[in-house]
Amino acid sequence: MINKIHFAKKIAGFRKRLKLSQAELAEKLCVTSQAVSKWECGATLPDVDLLLELSHLYGVTVNELLEDIDIIAKLASRTYEFDGIALFIPKEENHKNESWVKEIVDNNWVARNWFSCKDRSGGISDDIGKKISEHGGIILEIGTGPGGGFMPYILKSNPDANIIISDLSPIVVNEWRKFLDKELNSPNISYATFNFCEIPFKDNSIDVISDGGGIGNAEEGEKGKALKEVYRVLKPGGLFVTSTGFVNKETLSALPKHIQAVLKEKRPDVFEDLYEETVLAGFTKINSIISGSWDTDNDESTIADLARSLGVNLRFTSYVRFCEK
Ligand SMILES: C[S@@+](CC[C@H](N)C(=O)[O-])C[C@H]1O[C@@H](n2cnc3c(N)ncnc32)[C@H](O)[C@@H]1O
Repeated sequence: MINKIHFAKKIAGFRKRLKLSQAELAEKLCVTSQAVSKWECGATLPDVDLLLELSHLYGVTVNELLEDIDIIAKLASRTYEFDGIALFIPKEENHKNESWVKEIVDNNWVARNWFSCKDRSGGISDDIGKKISEHGGIILEIGTGPGGGFMPYILKSNPDANIIISDLSPIVVNEWRKFLDKELNSPNISYATFNFCEIPFKDNSIDVISDGGGIGNAEEGEKGKALKEVYRVLKPGGLFVTSTGFVNKETLSALPKHIQAVLKEKRPDVFEDLYEETVLAGFTKINSIISGSWDTDNDESTIADLARSLGVNLRFTSYVRFCEK
């Protein structure tokens, strides 16, 4: 059966790319703007002759307009429930997340982060978004979070990118789905919830995996597992782009010895650069670049509270790593 909503998103996307209004398209096809509006909201389908005309106008085949290729169904290595989002884990939010997700929803963080990415231009994240979208193929954003990781920059570079937006939190993924349906209405965006330590996709199936701080923020013991999963599902020649921040050896050794000892005992994770784990996962071509730094003096995280209680300022260096399989 033809998925009218998918068709509607496709034709609306092509029309917008040609910078035509619904009325201008209607005039070209000798139909009313109401007819175009009904096709584009999934209420009706055009007649076969108009379908052919549309395909010529948009330079694609009729099949391309009509076929709804379910990317997730093709990639999945196990069954899942579908509710606008491919749910590989229970659809209920983890109760530990309740206040966190409430804050995200109440404060509209997804929209805020999207627009702040749109307003910022010329930064390193724009270059990364462009590099990923130019690599092309199927892109998987993991641990998308309310910030979106690299996804907003990928879609800023190419709003038609084929991307799967994923996170452990169903509420976070649903916030992005609601927002992007209104903002881009792209037929090429899919949504999924899963644990990135058990990516539910087949081996060698994804072209690019992007991770804007998801793995770096994961619980102890999860990071190495997640990197191995990323390596497994990437296609040979595929690209993994990940960002992480940590306190480097030079910063650590400049601190008084007793403070080094407390920090190493209480928060060993903040010194982990994940390079060794990335190599252990299988990656041999790894290129790391420094993308910035931040200080605990200007932050409200738990590590910032600990640093303040010890009377020190910790400088974190942020890295972006490009790893090829
Ligand atoms: C605090 S956010 C930061 C990074 C995020 N990309 C952003 O830009 O907001 C970390 C995200 O990783 C997700 N996450 C944590 N552990 C995960 C796991 N094991 N599998 C998938 N997502 C996970 C969290 O739900 C959260 O949304």
